[in-house]
Amino acid sequence: MAQAASQQLMEKLVALCKRRGFIFPSSEIYGGINGFWDYGPLGAELKRNLKEQWWLWMTRWRDDVVGLDATIIMHPRIWEASGHVATFSDPMVDCKTCKGRFRADQLHETPCPRKPSKMVSECDGEKTEPRPFNLMFKTIVGPIESEENVAYLRPETAQAIFAQFKNVLETSRQKVPFGIAQIGKAFRNEVTPRNYTFRSREFEQMELEFFIRPDEAVEAIYGEVARPTGPGHPGSPQPNWGWQMWHQYWVEERIRFYESIGLPRTTLEEYWQKPEELAHYARACVDIQFKFPFGTQELEGIAARSDFDLSQHQRYSGKPMTVFDEELRAAWPKLPASRQQELQERYYRHRLGYLTRMGEAADKAETLARQDAELLAKGYYIPHVIEPSAGVDRLALALLCHAYDEDQAPNEKGELETRVVLRLHPRIAPVKVAVFPLLKNRPALVEKALQIRDLLRPWMNVFYDDAGAIGRRYRRQDEAGTPFCVTVDFETLGEKGPELKDTVTVRDRDTMQQTRVAIADLLGWLQERLR
Ligand code: GAP
Repeated sequence: MAQAASQQLMEKLVALCKRRGFIFPSSEIYGGINGFWDYGPLGAELKRNLKEQWWLWMTRWRDDVVGLDATIIMHPRIWEASGHVATFSDPMVDCKTCKGRFRADQLHETPCPRKPSKMVSECDGEKTEPRPFNLMFKTIVGPIESEENVAYLRPETAQAIFAQFKNVLETSRQKVPFGIAQIGKAFRNEVTPRNYTFRSREFEQMELEFFIRPDEAVEAIYGEVARPTGPGHPGSPQPNWGWQMWHQYWVEERIRFYESIGLPRTTLEEYWQKPEELAHYARACVDIQFKFPFGTQELEGIAARSDFDLSQHQRYSGKPMTVFDEELRAAWPKLPASRQQELQERYYRHRLGYLTRMGEAADKAETLARQDAELLAKGYYIPHVIEPSAGVDRLALALLCHAYDEDQAPNEKGELETRVVLRLHPRIAPVKVAVFPLLKNRPALVEKALQIRDLLRPWMNVFYDDAGAIGRRYRRQDEAGTPFCVTVDFETLGEKGPELKDTVTVRDRDTMQQTRVAIADLLGWLQERLR
């Protein structure tokens, strides 16, 4: 029953997104292409607003984060260093009967293409053994199609941040702890794209790599690291925070961000990955999940990735990824010898573990780890990283799912009708205000409405509409999620008396209540409510 209602909600949402120009299937006139979606006029505005809000929160409004806009195609060695060439794959199964290709871990939830009443796991098609399928899209750089010219469309934006870490550090006057943020396209040749835009083959990510001191450096400087004492936001960043505090901080910051754009905490869940689910280099990873109609699914992952990524790029590029920390260098000689030894030993063990796992021979790993421990005593280390990584498309889908609503509203004859309304937060609504002249054949009304459109346009996205009955115009804006509609009527012109001259009605999408506002106050009135 609940499943049928969820399916119906998705069907209505998909239909609305198509009808109103939020989302279209890519290349639709040629039958579409599985896993690719285009954003129409309203969808493009929605995505811009989302990315703008993320950028403000994660970069502009902070002193300790700077931005980056890197290329999609990068040197292929990047993907060897990151591990994507070797391990970025899903287990795949082919069905010899229907010629379908499926993710081995999703056979029980994927309908059989020949008999959709059965799942692939239940059908009697002859299936191959699972084998890994690399999800990276390959391309050729330059005019010669050869193995050495193979490159990849990036499967995540994060690696460019690591590859440019030193350039950004040297040019931005930042010091660890600090972050680099990036928004951009990512590509994954998903075996089974599904759930509308949720799992696509081309999508956008918003990623922050926040670089922090290793705990041993914090301990050397401050005596000990501050660790979380309980759940909740730990407050403003403090210099003695270790990785656990920073990780908890970013989980809570990200949830606050979602609340600020209209996803209440009750729509979200935190999933703390179990030790056996973590990547070998990760110390913790929290998935922020949203309760989608098709199930509770990941919106964003916040991972404590240790110093794995920069260490990998140091080994593969041969370029040092260490930073010099003056505070550490000054603090180290003041530590008792036993403390120095203890911290160095711990750091050595961590580095040795990493190098050994990466396949370095035992004696080389020991030598390199010993060198790293000696460098620590001189104030050098490879920063650790906390990575909040979110998907733009998934977030747009979550917001649309949460915003979709139906209620009852009177039509022109006063009869109650079902109204479809997108209750999007004003910060992310594609159109902030619609401006209507009551009648389009009254030049004085039209002229005034156009003046109001031009007054507001430099400040917000305004939509002017003079077509059809006013009630229908309201309904169209309700479906688009427009929070306010302004109507210029005969009162505005002073035809019903001087007291309402140069005022307009502003109609609220959610309450459908109308308020009379002076044109002179209109911009400020709206800005206060759109912030
Ligand atoms: N750098 C880490 C990373 O890429 P991920 O969990 O693979 O981690 C991060 O991806 C986010 O990117 C996800 O939480 C999701 O929002 C989005 N994402 C990943 N694959 C996606 C896909 N196929 N379609 C849409 N969004 C996707």
